[in-house]
Amino acid sequence: MMIFVPHHSIIFFLLLLLFCASTTFESIISTEIDHQPNKPNEELKLVFLFHRHGERTPYQLYPNDPFKDNITNTVGIGQLINKGKRRLYHLGQYLSKRYYNQNDGGNHFPIEKKSPRNVYVRSSGSERCLQSVTLLLAGMFPPENQWKWMNDSLGSLWQPIAIQTVPFDYDSLLNPDYKCPFAEHILNNEIYQSKEAKNITKKYRNLFEKLSNWTGYRLNEMNLVNAACIYDILLSEHNFDLPSPEWLNDNIWNELKIINDYVFQFNSTSRKIQRFRCGAIFGEIFHRLNTHFGNDSQSSSSANDRRHQIYIYSTHDEWLAQFLASMKVYNGIPPSFGSTIMLEVYQNSQINEPYFKGFYLNSTETESVYPLQFPDCLQPCTLTKFRESIKDLIVENPKQLVEQECFVEIKKYL
Ligand SMILES: *[C@@H]1O[C@H](CO)[C@@H](O)[C@H](O)[C@H]1NC(C)=O
Ligand SMILES: *[C@@H]1O[C@H](CO)[C@@H](O)[C@H](O)[C@H]1NC(C)=O
Ligand SMILES: *[C@@H]1O[C@H](CO)[C@@H](O)[C@H](O)[C@H]1NC(C)=O
Ligand SMILES: *[C@@H]1O[C@H](CO)[C@@H](O)[C@H](O)[C@H]1NC(C)=O
Ligand SMILES: *[C@@H]1O[C@H](CO)[C@@H](O)[C@H](O)[C@H]1NC(C)=O
Ligand SMILES: *[C@@H]1O[C@H](CO)[C@@H](O)[C@H](O)[C@H]1NC(C)=O
Ligand SMILES: *[C@@H]1O[C@H](CO)[C@@H](O)[C@H](O)[C@H]1NC(C)=O
Repeated sequence: MMIFVPHHSIIFFLLLLLFCASTTFESIISTEIDHQPNKPNEELKLVFLFHRHGERTPYQLYPNDPFKDNITNTVGIGQLINKGKRRLYHLGQYLSKRYYNQNDGGNHFPIEKKSPRNVYVRSSGSERCLQSVTLLLAGMFPPENQWKWMNDSLGSLWQPIAIQTVPFDYDSLLNPDYKCPFAEHILNNEIYQSKEAKNITKKYRNLFEKLSNWTGYRLNEMNLVNAACIYDILLSEHNFDLPSPEWLNDNIWNELKIINDYVFQFNSTSRKIQRFRCGAIFGEIFHRLNTHFGNDSQSSSSANDRRHQIYIYSTHDEWLAQFLASMKVYNGIPPSFGSTIMLEVYQNSQINEPYFKGFYLNSTETESVYPLQFPDCLQPCTLTKFRESIKDLIVENPKQLVEQECFVEIKKYL
């Protein structure tokens, strides 16, 4: 049978619309693509990019998975595949055009600033994120002029760029599953116990019985989260050119897809969890802004940090969904491979403070970005206004957050 291409499915959109209308999840991304060149009197100062890795093999298999050996004996579990490598390389080429090409009427960095020294890169410690951002950088920063380090092919096509990371299990910045018992507690005892979640679970009980039989999961293991995992496994195997299991048909596929959408929405809806998952990045963003524009902007100790113009963060779909939700612009659609959130900082002579513009590239091949209209930070979204809009989320000290709230608070709570 043929899986796909479900994002063009009208039924799916109707269901999504119904769902959005009937819940409190917010969906405030403009549906207009941004074609407008920026105003000429405005200067691009900084860019923060957050992107998902490329296509991968499944990060887990279901018990009866017939393709276990085909995956473990080839590229392995949860690993970037060639399709994903190409996607991230092309994404890098697009970003190079977006931020440095001087000939399209848009607003760019001066070409002489295009240097590996002016980019700061941090990746989730998972191999697929590290590899993905390596490819993105290869597409975005091929060496030019003094940066060519050898005359033959490699030295004039590719240059090394530093990528910062920490081991995955210790990464409270970019690992969306970073161990946080209190977050799990909220999900298991509040979100997935809500009337809405129970109702949806009930609706799919028959499907869960069948899935249990087909996949080998015990019936009591079947729930929305696990069904969403099955969807992810099937999608990843499809991307890896493995055939679909014979029990999969279009109906089952569409139901699994809808469940997966719900799980992304449920997982990202709690403000408390948004703070656990994205608070540290907001703290980091404002720390960096302070280096460039704030009290630290004159200090010589931060001069070395002020060379950075583009900050790139390589991460996961769940993380991007949480991040969008925390700014109240999640559209309820799981971020596809290579999806990129752009927070661009501008200055102009009329406004006495720098301001943000947000964009979302959720389908890398289109190279068309959607403007993000932050409901709590209307244009011009100055740094002060933006900070105000997310001030309940900002975490200055992630270590303390994790130790004191993720672990300790749960004891108070139980
Ligand atoms: C991208 O986002 C827009 C705006 O929310 C949405 O209409 C579109 O379906 C999304 N596309 C994908 C592939 O997620
Ligand atoms: C999976 O692996 C088996 C054993 O190596 C092989 O016979 C089979 O053709 C493979 N299937 C696919 C779809 O690659
Ligand atoms: C590269 O080519 C230039 C010009 O032909 C030459 O001057 C230079 O020595 C070469 N560099 C290396 C490392 O081979
Ligand atoms: C439960 O779901 C059904 C459709 O499956 C819907 O008609 C009903 O309004 C929902 N009830 C609640 C409490 O969400
Ligand atoms: C379970 O799956 C087998 C095939 O794998 C099928 O023959 C059987 O009818 C299924 N049972 C149920 C209850 O779906
Ligand atoms: C920045 O400096 C101003 C005045 O010098 C001071 O009032 C303010 O508290 C400082 N802000 C930070 C974050 O240090
Ligand atoms: C949702 O949250 C559960 C519980 O933390 C997690 O196991 C699951 O992987 C998450 N799924 C998605 C799609 O975010």
